Amino acid sequence: MSDFQLTRTLDEHAADRALRADVLHGLTHSPKVLPPKWFYDARGSELFEEITRLPEYYPTRAEREILLARAQEIAVVSGARTLVELGSGSSEKTRHLIEAMPALDTYIPVDVSESALSGAAQTLLEEHPGLRVHALLADFTKPLHLPQSPGPRLVVFLGGTVGNLLPPERAVFLASVRAMLSPGDALLMGTDLVKDEDVLVAAYDDAQGVTAEFNKNVLSVIDRELGADFHTEDFVHVAVWNREQEWIEMRLRARSELVVKVRELDLLVPFAAGEEILTEVSAKFRQEGVRRELSAAGLELTHWWTDAAGRFALSLSVADGAEPAADSGRESEAETAA
Ligand code: AVJ
Repeated sequence: MSDFQLTRTLDEHAADRALRADVLHGLTHSPKVLPPKWFYDARGSELFEEITRLPEYYPTRAEREILLARAQEIAVVSGARTLVELGSGSSEKTRHLIEAMPALDTYIPVDVSESALSGAAQTLLEEHPGLRVHALLADFTKPLHLPQSPGPRLVVFLGGTVGNLLPPERAVFLASVRAMLSPGDALLMGTDLVKDEDVLVAAYDDAQGVTAEFNKNVLSVIDRELGADFHTEDFVHVAVWNREQEWIEMRLRARSELVVKVRELDLLVPFAAGEEILTEVSAKFRQEGVRRELSAAGLELTHWWTDAAGRFALSLSVADGAEPAADSGRESEAETAA
């Protein structure tokens, strides 16, 4: 039985080229910076799973609380027959949503990890034998061509990951999501909310040091993939609340003056004592800001749900009547493998 299809839009060297470009740019830039997507090799993904179970890291639990409470309502309001999940990973949280959607025809998980995609699909197909699963191996920050499937469509983007994008990147991203939708289709998005600095900083600097290890893992990735000689002990994990921008910054601070060699880039990277690499921005939101950013992308906020403690929000927005500027992407041009 073939209710599972996988479409690959990433060639195997694309990630390697992107890592080289990001490291070359980021470590020769002042101040030094590395994009957060390179945290997530197998070890980094494991560490992130561990983070989601930490007492200080509330976003995952808060979002699950909202999804459990609202799955039925989301299913009814969206009337979705196709569910697209950006950054689907294990599809764990989405399972609640799928269970609440008896009319669902097609689930389209989108992720950069092929093992996560096929693992999640297998479990879902066992639970929902009638469901069509068409996985997309793709980087969702790039414009996507979705396979053909019945509308209405609901695109979900959970976890607060939209906060990893800087405001101009978010504008581009939300416009590209809008371009996947037809009028009446919807976006369900998770956003962490502005709150007390102490609570926020603790969530990104936990007592057990798991987040510190997660942060330093990016150095191990660069060591392994590009033959660099970073030593994680030479760096200190730093989490700070940027009050003006309303985002958490994770940084790695050099304990002393040092030079790191990146063999495959033929690059020597000097660090002054105390010099930092910015490794992640995790923006926190307010309802009005989310409404404004969605609206600028042609999406109208129709529902706003928070957990009982008001820490995290799920927003539902609908594509407005205007035709999207870009190709709506109903047709897939990529290679399709059964
Ligand atoms: C997976 C991007 C939502 O920003 O909270 C967790 C990643 N970084 N702890 C976040 C993360 C540090 C997480 N997101």
